[in-house]
Amino acid sequence: MRKPIIAGNWKMNLGRVEEALEFVRQIRSPLYEVENVDRVICPPFTVLAALAEVIQANKIGLGAQNIHWEESGAHTGDISGPMIAALCQYVIIGHSERRAIGGAGESDEAIHKKVQAALNHGLTPIICVGENLTQKEAGETQAFVSGQVRAALTGLDQDQISTCVLAYEPIWAIGTGQAATAVDANSIIGLTIRGTIAETFGESAAQQVRVQYGGSVNVGNIAEYMSMPEIDGALVGGASLKPEFVELVKQASLTS
Ligand code: 13P
Repeated sequence: MRKPIIAGNWKMNLGRVEEALEFVRQIRSPLYEVENVDRVICPPFTVLAALAEVIQANKIGLGAQNIHWEESGAHTGDISGPMIAALCQYVIIGHSERRAIGGAGESDEAIHKKVQAALNHGLTPIICVGENLTQKEAGETQAFVSGQVRAALTGLDQDQISTCVLAYEPIWAIGTGQAATAVDANSIIGLTIRGTIAETFGESAAQQVRVQYGGSVNVGNIAEYMSMPEIDGALVGGASLKPEFVELVKQASLTS
């Protein structure tokens, strides 16, 4: 049995200490009480230290939104594994918004190095994959997503893979209100993502790894995703910035 995991990706929001603390003080008690679901918040770097002080890490996980694969050095603006591991348990890697940045985004190779770095420092990586609209319309989703999964996980052993979390986030569904149907997301996650992992790393790794869906998830549609056998939770953007995030996590716990 895979334990569901709901993660809130705050992106570049609520990054001032006062506003982050105010929001977290509203949501933490009800989130502590939810059972059977891992819940994680991934705020901007600027507030990680402040939030680490006010949440119980065994009840709400804290995650960063990026990591550099080197431990230290001349990397202006980057944050390393040891720095993150001092505050967090999770790190989002390879979000499409980082893969894309002005044509100078992260390559599959960089993402792979980041996954290795996260695991080396005891962090759980939340590895994002997903196709854009052009690829979807050209029928390239399976091949593209499968390639991303292979590239991110290459060289890892079965135990390492089973501790990873993957997030299937079709780019066309992010922030658009046009969520993938639960049936489609379930199929890509089962056939393409778990299928690729099974082929390359074995069935047991494929069955153990947790895979989320992300893209316009909200309190109204979370139950449908959670009712699908291959979907183990959600990576939530916009809806994680509002008190409704608590309701969303509760719904996930009821339907999982
Ligand atoms: P939205 O939930 O706002 O569509 O964002 C999804 C996302 O990108 C989470 O990482």
